Amino acid sequence: MTRLLHISDLHFGAVDAGLCEPLLALTEALRPDAVIVSGDLTQRAQAAQFRAASHYLAQFAAPVLAIPGNHDAPLFNLAERLLTPFRRYRRHFRDVLEPKLDLPRAVVVGVNTANPMVWKEGRLSPGSAARLAEGFRAGPAGAARIAVLHHAPVPAADGTPADIHQPPGVIADLVAAGAEIVLSGHTHMPHFTVAATAAGILFLQVGTAISTRLKTGLNDVGVVDIDAAGATVQSWVADADKVFRQVTEQRFDRMDGRWLLAAAASVPGVGHVGLAAGDEVMEPVTDAVIQRGGLELGKPPLP
Ligand SMILES: [Fe+2]
Ligand SMILES: [Fe+2]
Repeated sequence: MTRLLHISDLHFGAVDAGLCEPLLALTEALRPDAVIVSGDLTQRAQAAQFRAASHYLAQFAAPVLAIPGNHDAPLFNLAERLLTPFRRYRRHFRDVLEPKLDLPRAVVVGVNTANPMVWKEGRLSPGSAARLAEGFRAGPAGAARIAVLHHAPVPAADGTPADIHQPPGVIADLVAAGAEIVLSGHTHMPHFTVAATAAGILFLQVGTAISTRLKTGLNDVGVVDIDAAGATVQSWVADADKVFRQVTEQRFDRMDGRWLLAAAASVPGVGHVGLAAGDEVMEPVTDAVIQRGGLELGKPPLP
């Protein structure tokens, strides 16, 4: 089994200091094979904020794969934002914007969807899509293909539309690259269940792990256990008492290129699971999904 801890939107510069130690303690207890950080390391892309993020992530015993989010390019320095948007990220945090990690049962590839040409909407560039496909191609056979994007091409937990340019096209690119699981952040909303599956991809989103920029009053992280038959997904949330607690667990079997929900459990009153055991969770991108999720109208990526 390969275990990933999925955290996101740390936003150093707007961190809840009381959550830093509890997240480290949780990670020590869960012993993940890797920690995946799906963007927005900082609040304002300042050097000190990148250094704080780097210092914090260095405390995790497991390897850390991190990508930029829209907050990791300077907002107010327009010249820098347009000409060298990730200069500070590279200098003070990581030199590689789209890192790759090979694990026993997973090949994880980071994709930079932060688009400095606009305020916050994401974009999957042709170059990034090609690098993603190449990263997956080079990975060992049998390993789950996992893409990490700051912006998901599917709606958020509450139905908020995907905040990325042309979501159906992004999904089509992910399918073409061979992605099986996509890990994302940006919404700052905890997901107690799978928000969406499309075209045989399991889309997993988490909110903010340790920042004060909350949409629902809860910080959360995700745990993804990969094995030969599929994946088990857990959601852990921290309330005002600063203790991370597990609220859901879902088991997905991978069969013939589709994901099937095999079992689901949640803690009453905190989490919820929107699907029953035995449900097929592969959901093609249909008109209904487009209307419900606000995906841009266009050709579905798959028949
Ligand atoms: Fe964020
Ligand atoms: Fe973001």
